[in-house]
Amino acid sequence: MVGCDRPSLATAPPAQWAFPPLPFATADPRDSELQLLLEQASQRLVRWLGSAASRPPLPGLSLMPAVEPQRQGLTASQLLSDLDLVMDGAYNPGHPGALAHLDPPPLAASIVGDLICAGLNNNLLAEELSPSLSRLERSLMAWLAERLGLPPGSGGVPASGGTLSNLMALVTARRQRQLGCCGDAVVLASADAHVSIGKSLAVMGLPPGALQPVPVLADGGMDPEALERRLADLARRGVPVIAVVATAGTTVRGAVDPLPALADICGRHGVWLHVDGAIGAVFGLSDRHRHRVPGLERADSLTVNPQKLLGITKTSSLLLLARPQGLERAFATGLPYMEPSWGGGHGGECGIQGSRPAEVLKLWLGLRQLGLEGIESLLDAAVSRREHLQALLAAIPGLALQSGPLHLLAFSPAAATAPQAEAWSQQTRQQLLDAQLMLSRPRYGGRFHLKAVLGNPHTGAAELERLAAIVATTVDGLGQPIPAPSA
Ligand SMILES: Cc1ncc(COP(=O)(O)O)c(C=O)c1O
Repeated sequence: MVGCDRPSLATAPPAQWAFPPLPFATADPRDSELQLLLEQASQRLVRWLGSAASRPPLPGLSLMPAVEPQRQGLTASQLLSDLDLVMDGAYNPGHPGALAHLDPPPLAASIVGDLICAGLNNNLLAEELSPSLSRLERSLMAWLAERLGLPPGSGGVPASGGTLSNLMALVTARRQRQLGCCGDAVVLASADAHVSIGKSLAVMGLPPGALQPVPVLADGGMDPEALERRLADLARRGVPVIAVVATAGTTVRGAVDPLPALADICGRHGVWLHVDGAIGAVFGLSDRHRHRVPGLERADSLTVNPQKLLGITKTSSLLLLARPQGLERAFATGLPYMEPSWGGGHGGECGIQGSRPAEVLKLWLGLRQLGLEGIESLLDAAVSRREHLQALLAAIPGLALQSGPLHLLAFSPAAATAPQAEAWSQQTRQQLLDAQLMLSRPRYGGRFHLKAVLGNPHTGAAELERLAAIVATTVDGLGQPIPAPSA
């Protein structure tokens, strides 16, 4: 073939393979472009976080950058100035008056965890795509389960949010109880359970009536006697029960269901107990605060959302199980395009998600940066803020407060009708926003309330005192709203 004029198979790559260079991180350890981009982006982020107090918690409408890629790719500085526009319009959780939701500012190490997670770009789907991270994830899940009191051998899986953790818990419970074909199976949860329980049942193909609400007592916790009666009635009628869902930290007031009593009842009736601890389970990590969520350790499955209070960047939710083997029974399909697991099991076989990022990294770094003492002081401060605000608001005649043992507090004028409470909540939220204090406006017990979530580490006594002073001008001593003075 030598001397033949047919083209050689070993041709040089076509020009478009070599040029223009694409903006991937390169194999050059001194990749100066990547370094510069990371440094400039970090500087912007540090500036944004550090100037949180000078911007309102809820920004006004901001300019939007172009969304479509242009013919020529943008330079680093063009990208960063577009990024500025988006950052200008972002919700500002680091403002000391950001008290509306369960979305605290991020821990420093957790931000780094997210960055490194993106750079490693590993995939928790399978061990060969995330060798060290799969092991880290399993070990951390087992440590967390044990720390929260679940039995030896417990463990679990991270999920992108508490909704997904709750869904996976209920799918696992249904599978465990072999109720997959029972269209009449039900789940019992308190009337104050999170909306993700109903959503989960809809995704599972069950009719709306499958969610059976159990009434709550005056403290916002599920009524155990009502649960017992309901379970006995369902048993008499032969209606299968997938699970009882208890809540450790309800969304509006942070109430905790009486878990030990509910666990006893579930034990007597042979029913799976799922605890939605998306808000409250993290209190079980601390010796000083565990008493706020007694009985977590009795759960068959437990949702925990470190993103809601501990400052782990979103998303960070976990589903922990006393017997984690149930996850594989519910979700494993086999991964015929992957090497077999070398012992621990593939991350994609123990949950709904296939490809998923190493969210464990920011959780692990964040928890280790805080340390057990840091976790404890964060929880101490959140509870103290709630107690301080509660004392200030309790001194306002005519205001009805709803709270629990955690860091949430809701309130409304005691004697307002539902339409009056709605108007009051709108007007008062706006007055508070004008003073750079952001509360949320949930509907609870048939009427609107204002709700404060006191997990923001930057909130001090001054913000709470200003808040109470404004609220005091909006309610008369008889519990009627006082209309705002017209502007
Ligand atoms: C008690 C409770 N469970 C579950 C969820 C859902 O969590 P996520 O928003 O992470 O899906 C929430 C959200 O606020 C919640 O309050």
